[in-house]
Formats: sequence, C-alpha cells, structure tokens
Amino acid sequence: MNKKIIIANWKMALTFSQTESLVKDIVDGLRNINFEKIDLVLCPSFPALPLVNKIIENSGLPIFLGSQNVFWEERGSYTGEVSPLVLKELGVSHVIIGHSERRLRLKETDEMIHKKVRVALANKLVPIVCVGETIEERDDKRKDMVIVKQVSYGVEGFNLNADDSFIIAYEPVWAIGSGQAVDPAELIKIIFTIKQRMVDIFGLEAVEKKSQIIYGGSIDSKNINNFVKKEVDGYLIGGASLNPQEFLKILKILSEV
Ligand code: PGA
Repeated sequence: MNKKIIIANWKMALTFSQTESLVKDIVDGLRNINFEKIDLVLCPSFPALPLVNKIIENSGLPIFLGSQNVFWEERGSYTGEVSPLVLKELGVSHVIIGHSERRLRLKETDEMIHKKVRVALANKLVPIVCVGETIEERDDKRKDMVIVKQVSYGVEGFNLNADDSFIIAYEPVWAIGSGQAVDPAELIKIIFTIKQRMVDIFGLEAVEKKSQIIYGGSIDSKNINNFVKKEVDGYLIGGASLNPQEFLKILKILSEV
C-alpha cells in the first residue's frame, strides 16, 4: 500500500459548532491538495458524525469518516453505547479501537478490544487498533512485550476476508499530547516487531495486502518530515489536527512526498 493514511482524532476537544467550523476550514483548504498520495479519515465525536458526513458529501472530496469507538454488540440493553449498525448508517468506514485514553481512563481491556475488532470486521468497518506502552512499561524494558501482547489480543483469531483490512496504530502513551514524539529510527524497529507478529498470525501476503501500521503521538508540521518513511503507512493525529492551518500543512507535505 503506497498511499499514506492520515487519521484525525478530535477526541472530546470540540463542541458541535467548533467541529463544524473546523471541518469547513479543512475542506476548503483541501481543494488544492492531491489525494493521489493520501487517504484522509476524520474522527469527530459521535453526535457530530452526521454533520461531518454531510459536509464531506457536499465537498465531493474523497474523505473518509471515522468514529472514536464502537460497542462490541450490534444491539441490546447497553445503555449509553453505540452500535456498529448505527455507525454504518451514518457513513462511518473506520473505527478507532482501544485508544490508550480508553484503556487507561475507562479501563478498556484487551478482551473488550478484541470483541470490538470482531464486531467492526463483521460490519465492514476498518478497525484502527491502538497499541503502545506507558512510560513505566518502557522504563521497565517491557515495551516490546506490551506491544506484542496488545497486537495479539487485538487481531488474533480472526479470518480476514478478501475485502477486510485493518490498521494498527502504534501510539506510545507517553508521546500522546506531550510534544515528544518517538525517535523515528526506533519507530521503524517497533513497526518491524508489530509486522512480524501480524505475519505470524495472518501470513505475509495477507499482512502486506490488508493491513497498515501507522504512528501516532505528537506529530506536527515541524516533525512530520522525520516520519515520512516507507515502513510508516500513516499517522494518527490528535492535537495538530485541531488547528486547520497546521493540519493542512501536514496534509500538503504528505501529499507531495
Ligand atoms: P496527539 O494525539 O497527536 O495530540 O499526540 C494522538 C492521539 O491520541 O491519537
């Protein structure tokens, strides 16, 4: 896969009206950006999905809609949860699963994440499975173990159909929102570790055809060039995607490399 995928994760940073003006600014700025080299996924909060979908549709641009979470059942007595069926109806194509903020603050477990990946694949939503170590795990030299365990729980046990695809996002917890991204040379090694685990599970051909391994954690327009490597299939961007000028700068750089 040659195209880089760029996923904007807006977390719970914006109100409804702020989301509207951000999407409009991004869409306006995208008119002179070449989509041949990039895929773009916008992930607003749940209530803003229809709004963002409408703006994307009206723009005629090939932008994908993503959600920041999904529940692991399609329907039932699960107060407050959101079904994959609803997400599909709203035009969602990608879903972030197991973001560290959910793992740590909402106590999402590897088992829950596994079930969410299952329901996403069953509904033809592309799972974006987030993995990554905390600073304590890194200091204890358990980084690779943690990542391999999270990848294994995330994707093991599934049969991938011809049209399935999934994304693993390596997001070290200490790099998220901290202004301190991972060292790019180290990132390549970690990507090989993740890829090897996925090849063990699915085989090389399936991994090369159906999966992407991306990076997230303090990516901005100043450091993005350091992360433009053939091994890095894309980027999950939080803070820098909330500022339209900054985000468009990143998209421009990636569409021209
Ligand atoms: P950041 O967030 O780009 O602000 O570090 C990334 C993420 O949490 O997905």
